[in-house]
Amino acid sequence: MIKVSDLKKDFPIFDREINGKRLTYLDSGATSQKPNSVINEMTNVYTNMNANVHRGTYVLSSETTAKYEEVRNKLKNFINAYSSDEIIFAKGCTEGFNFLANSICKDLNAGDEIILSEIEHHANIIPWQMAAAKYNLKINYINVSESFELDFDHLESLLNKNTKVVSIVGESNISGMLPDIKKINSLVKDKTDAVYIVDGAQLVPHRKIDVQDLGIDFLCVSGHKMLGPTGIGVVWGRKELLENLDPVYGGGDMIEEVFYDTATWAPIPHKFEAGTPPYVEAIGLGAAVDYLFNLDMNNVQKHSDDLREYAKNKLGNIDGLNIIHTNSKLAGCTFAMSVDGVHATDISLMLDTFGVAVRAGHHCVQPFHRKLNLDATFRATGYIYNDEEDFDILSNAIEESIKLLT
Ligand code: ALA
Repeated sequence: MIKVSDLKKDFPIFDREINGKRLTYLDSGATSQKPNSVINEMTNVYTNMNANVHRGTYVLSSETTAKYEEVRNKLKNFINAYSSDEIIFAKGCTEGFNFLANSICKDLNAGDEIILSEIEHHANIIPWQMAAAKYNLKINYINVSESFELDFDHLESLLNKNTKVVSIVGESNISGMLPDIKKINSLVKDKTDAVYIVDGAQLVPHRKIDVQDLGIDFLCVSGHKMLGPTGIGVVWGRKELLENLDPVYGGGDMIEEVFYDTATWAPIPHKFEAGTPPYVEAIGLGAAVDYLFNLDMNNVQKHSDDLREYAKNKLGNIDGLNIIHTNSKLAGCTFAMSVDGVHATDISLMLDTFGVAVRAGHHCVQPFHRKLNLDATFRATGYIYNDEEDFDILSNAIEESIKLLT
């Protein structure tokens, strides 16, 4: 069980007041807050052992290198990868998708197909659009139903021998939808030889993930949404698939041998980590993984489920509030909302006066907002340091804002 009042003491940001009120932070979908252990670990590296990794023979460099590589192993255990060589550090999910789209699509044939869904984040749309334009590929989008669920019949109808990539969100940053990953995987594997990529940006911070059990091929992970620092994330891929991909970025440590006219690549994972890696951020992410591991991801998941149920009931009772949230019992604690005739930005500015931090806009999911005839929503997302009181404060603040703005 997570006891929020105790846990919050680990997060110094909650000592702050906002507009004279306690901070009610409900924007972890955009970025999570950081515990002292992450902040202190990064300070410790800069203070006591800073040196570039994989490049020095001296003590400091050996220490940072060992710490950096240890994080790979922590992440391997965290998602149950087959090997720590499958953990590729990237800046985040966006860079991860750009890498995968560039590297995978260059080996496809004109007319090959990519399947995404209608509710994808731009990070899982734009890189495929760019690659599709370059290599003459076709993108199909799985319909999302009125109850904000994937239409599996439509997915089945889209799968064919030309399908080479299926890349779908693991937990929607809009509706909280948690698609059945195993079901998608078996449909994809039964009908195609495509790779199945899961966007884990919102999923991995909240739920216990076992990539071996899921049977998927690639997973993109964002560090800053799971208590870690910005500028660090992970692309996990099956070893045999990663070994067959070419690097997209060159330079630094990704080489084996370099000649004036050609070069050979280092083995995975280093083949994909050009330049000085963000090793301090990676070590910070390691501390975040430790924190979540100590909490136990089963508890994190249960906390998200309990809070989601509470929030759904509470917000569902507010007159005039439209909520974009899946009907399924299985969902993330994420609620995009709108009020007819009131702009989402105005509501979020009002909420800020109550000390409530939510995000307003299209949340990098503009095509789906357009489908709903909305240019923007405001969105509340809960995490381990949120409790029922946060959603009580949010609900009261929304009711007051509606009274003032309508
Ligand atoms: N993708 C992040 C969000 O949904 C930034 O807010």
